[in-house]
Amino acid sequence: MEWISAAVVLLVLTSGSPVKAGKCPKECSCDNAKLSVACVGRNLTEIPPTIDEITVKLNLRNNNLQMILKEAFIHTPHLTHLNLQLCNIIKVKEGAFRSLDRLLSLNLANNKIDVLYQESFDGLSSLKELHLDHNRIEEIQPGAFAQLGFLNMLTLTHNQLVYIPNMAFQGLQNIKRLRLSHNSLNNLAPEAFAGLFSLRRLSLDHNELQFFPTQTMTRLPEVTHLDMSYNPMIYLGEESVSMGKLTHLHLHHMALQDLSDEAFAHAHLLSHIDLSHNQLRYLEPLSGPKELTNLSLTGNSIYCNCYLRPLREWATAGHVKLMGACAGPPHLSDEPLQAVTSLDLRCRGRGEALEEEDSKGNITSTTKPRQTVRCPSNCDCDTEAHHATCESRGHTKIPRGFPSSTQLLDLRGNHFHFIPASSFPGSAQVVSLHLEFCKVREMEGRAFQGMKGLLYLYLSDNDLTTLDPRAFAGVPMLTYLHLEGNRLTHFPGPALSLLPNLFVLHLERNAISKLEPSGLLSSVAPTLRGLYLSNNTITGIAKGALCSASIGTVHLDSNQLTEVPIDALFEAPNLEELNLSHNPVTRVGPKAFEPVSQSLKRLFMDQMETEQMSEDALLGLGPGLKSLTLRGNHLKVLPDLSSFTSLEVIDLRDNPLLCDCNVLPLRRWMKNVRLEVSAMCSHPLELRGQQVRDINIFTACPEKMSPPNKEAVREPRPAKLQKAKPSALRSPRVRTRPQKAKLDRPAKSLHQRKSATTAKNKKTGNNKN
Ligand SMILES: *[C@@H]1O[C@H](CO)[C@@H](O)[C@H](O)[C@H]1NC(C)=O
Ligand SMILES: *[C@@H]1O[C@H](CO)[C@@H](O)[C@H](O)[C@H]1NC(C)=O
Ligand SMILES: *[C@@H]1O[C@H](CO)[C@@H](O)[C@H](O)[C@H]1NC(C)=O
Ligand SMILES: *[C@@H]1O[C@H](CO)[C@@H](O)[C@H](O)[C@H]1NC(C)=O
Ligand SMILES: *[C@@H]1O[C@H](CO)[C@@H](O)[C@H](O)[C@H]1NC(C)=O
Repeated sequence: MEWISAAVVLLVLTSGSPVKAGKCPKECSCDNAKLSVACVGRNLTEIPPTIDEITVKLNLRNNNLQMILKEAFIHTPHLTHLNLQLCNIIKVKEGAFRSLDRLLSLNLANNKIDVLYQESFDGLSSLKELHLDHNRIEEIQPGAFAQLGFLNMLTLTHNQLVYIPNMAFQGLQNIKRLRLSHNSLNNLAPEAFAGLFSLRRLSLDHNELQFFPTQTMTRLPEVTHLDMSYNPMIYLGEESVSMGKLTHLHLHHMALQDLSDEAFAHAHLLSHIDLSHNQLRYLEPLSGPKELTNLSLTGNSIYCNCYLRPLREWATAGHVKLMGACAGPPHLSDEPLQAVTSLDLRCRGRGEALEEEDSKGNITSTTKPRQTVRCPSNCDCDTEAHHATCESRGHTKIPRGFPSSTQLLDLRGNHFHFIPASSFPGSAQVVSLHLEFCKVREMEGRAFQGMKGLLYLYLSDNDLTTLDPRAFAGVPMLTYLHLEGNRLTHFPGPALSLLPNLFVLHLERNAISKLEPSGLLSSVAPTLRGLYLSNNTITGIAKGALCSASIGTVHLDSNQLTEVPIDALFEAPNLEELNLSHNPVTRVGPKAFEPVSQSLKRLFMDQMETEQMSEDALLGLGPGLKSLTLRGNHLKVLPDLSSFTSLEVIDLRDNPLLCDCNVLPLRRWMKNVRLEVSAMCSHPLELRGQQVRDINIFTACPEKMSPPNKEAVREPRPAKLQKAKPSALRSPRVRTRPQKAKLDRPAKSLHQRKSATTAKNKKTGNNKN
């Protein structure tokens, strides 16, 4: 479609403009009627300087350009199509395409680009298609696509992306298709796709996602087609897919062993679900989708006995076409699912019959065909799925004798009290171990000895007061550790120092009151990225205690801090998110965040009883800051916000603002940002309840308070802003974008994210932060 419209544009252009018999560089062939120039496969190391200025199509495919310099195409400003495939390009300098504001299609596929810089695509304000597939892209810098407000399609397949950071695609407000297939993605930040309000089709197939990125996907309100195939997911939990407009979902060639019948509960419009080539043996009727027509189970080992009957009946009643065939029992082998009737689906053996009786409404946990497998008594071992569970069965000792292939071991809700050394022999394959709500008071050193593959350990909601320094000896791969909801009084540094791969640590809801000594984090957990310490009783943090090159997220909300613990963070060059809400910090002094000002993107300071913030409190933080909340404090005067030009979330509500001339800088800033900012006056009395943006008192303000150009208050001319971040306002389309939705959405979604995380944690234990 884009090509057709491009062709139309081209036609109009060609017929409308006089065709000069232009010069043609000797390495190229030129079609003067079509205004196109092709210099293909000539081993060129630079762009021929004599290309005619009126050229609209330039094909430089298969050359040896290596680097695209700043303003490389300044002499051909009329280009609509530019092909730079196979040009050995390693680097695209910032501003490389500046001047190409008519370009519709840019092809940079099959090169060696590894980083997309913030301003690599600066100036391409009409671009519709961008091909970046088959490169070596590992990093997308924030704002890389910020100016591509007209882009329809972006292809990033066959690159080396591992992680997509928050806001990576910000600015693509017209994008319809995004292709991220064939990368190595194993993690998507919750706001990775924030701002893609018009995206329809997303492909993430052939990556390494182990869990369905529920939180990330809920930020995509318009997506209808999602391809997640070829990712190593084992399980889809309840409400995993919460995408209101999704119609086509591809989940084939994954490693699904189980699927909650509620997995699609919030995807009502799904019509096609492809679950082919997984390891499913059963499936329950799916609740949620009301328009389902095709459900593919091809290439699974579907066992056609009485437990499949509910699915068969549901499919018949709802006119859902079931694709695939039975894998057993023998007399039904290879029979198409669509052909078997409810009556064919029987249970013969005594064991099966018994199960049938007690499994009404409880099919998943009991319907797997019973094989005589090694399994401790009063537990269920599913060798197909590699799951073993003894959840809430009243065990008082850790059961032994699980199948050695077990990968998920769920022991939550028992009463172990004490976990002795080597409690899990023969569990080297276990990846995820659940021990929540087990009343564990003590764990001996080497409790998990031998669990060489353990990545996730859930010890939440127990009664641990201290940790043996050797508690985690023998589990070197441990990456995600949940210790929230215990009674730890100290940061368990010595125990953690045995975990060289620790990435996320949850310590919320403990009784930790101090963090010391200095250098704590860098010495005990050199790879730690997320540290969650909410709801402890922390009053002080030693200088440098949280310094760490790896730390990205620190939650210290709901503690007893009386000042911003900035000394603790003076060397945390990658800190992006800091939550200080609900701490009694009455005053915030100048430059309180300066040490982390280069990296900080999200700062939360709600309900802190703060009465006073220095005007320079946030000095140093600047365009990098994306979220700032100061809600529910006692601030009469807000600090200077003028450097925040790229905020996506701001919450200033519930502060008793004094609306006199001092509020003028705030008002000026509000008029310059593309956010609808709510800030209400409390004083003086006659302005109480009015929004700062609506008041009109400034004519009386002394000269030094008023803006250099008085017009500016009424008719904002964002000159300053433009300088700080050219991307923000250059294109007129960007400016007229509806503003309110943008503010509301991330603010709400933060909240949703939190509750979604909690719910998911509880239900599946599969949360990967
Ligand atoms: C291309 O140019 C490079 C040096 O610029 C040279 O080493 C190489 O042999 C050339 N290749 C061809 C196919 O001409
Ligand atoms: C869905 O089922 C219909 C028949 O019910 C079939 O014609 C169509 O090809 C199927 N679509 C897919 C994508 O398999
Ligand atoms: C499912 O089975 C378990 C144990 O067999 C039982 O405790 C539970 O109540 C059952 N749930 C339902 C919904 O029947
Ligand atoms: C912290 O504690 C408060 C009150 O006890 C509770 O409402 C809140 O949910 C807790 N937050 C976390 C993150 O546990
Ligand atoms: C920050 O902490 C507050 C208070 O515990 C909490 O309500 C809020 O959700 C947290 N924000 C984020 C982004 O975690």
